[in-house]
Amino acid sequence: MDVFKSKQQVSTYIIHSQEEEIKRIALELHEGVGQNLYSILTGLQFVESAAQEPHMKNYLREMESLIEKTIQEIRLLSVELHPPALTTLGLLPAMKSYIKLYTSTFGILVDLESTGKEKSIPERNNIAVFRVCQEALTNIAKYADTSHVKMNFIWNNDELKITIHDFGKGFQLEEHDDHHHSSGLAAMKERMLLTGGQCTISSKIGEGTSIELSLPL
Ligand SMILES: Nc1ncnc2c1ncn2[C@@H]1O[C@H](COP(=O)(O)OP(=O)(O)O)[C@@H](O)[C@H]1O
Ligand SMILES: [Mg+2]
Repeated sequence: MDVFKSKQQVSTYIIHSQEEEIKRIALELHEGVGQNLYSILTGLQFVESAAQEPHMKNYLREMESLIEKTIQEIRLLSVELHPPALTTLGLLPAMKSYIKLYTSTFGILVDLESTGKEKSIPERNNIAVFRVCQEALTNIAKYADTSHVKMNFIWNNDELKITIHDFGKGFQLEEHDDHHHSSGLAAMKERMLLTGGQCTISSKIGEGTSIELSLPL
């Protein structure tokens, strides 16, 4: 029992340090790299306005639009790594903004519904649940072969329930259970267990895959 407890503490510690590191990288991308690119863009615009030769001017304009595109990509990457809304606004708004990005990237519509009164969740659990949903949605984009996902947030007094159903092609769960080298699905279960909650995965060939999460509040 003692061993199990300390193993759980080690997992929690490792996940927490990784999340801190991801947050640092996301901020550095946004504030550091993003800001520097913005300064370079401003400098180029200045040089362009002073340039006389037409094809030098054209070349500088091309460089500017390339840098603008890069700034945009860095912004998206940073949000994907660590959505600022997760800390400031909470799980549901962060999920909504992630879904916007997801739909525009993969062309998969996510119908998100929330019932009950939204509650605030401690940061560690917030991140855990967010990552588990992110992994579920990534799997759907990779494997489900679907264009429609239904996601439900159900807020009860002492529990948040989240269900994700993909209406996709489904898969044989037995081949991908815990004894298999399936890191994504196993990590989803592990992360939910560390929050004191649960993650249940079910799938039927031809009908799709369902993920059910529960988090004690
Ligand atoms: N929503 C889904 N629809 C269909 N197949 C899925 C879905 N989610 C997972 N799978 C199947 O389960 C396997 C294991 O998923 P996962 O553990 O996340 O590993 P990975 O994403 O690294 O392949 C996938 O390779 C895929 O075959
Ligand atoms: Mg996966």
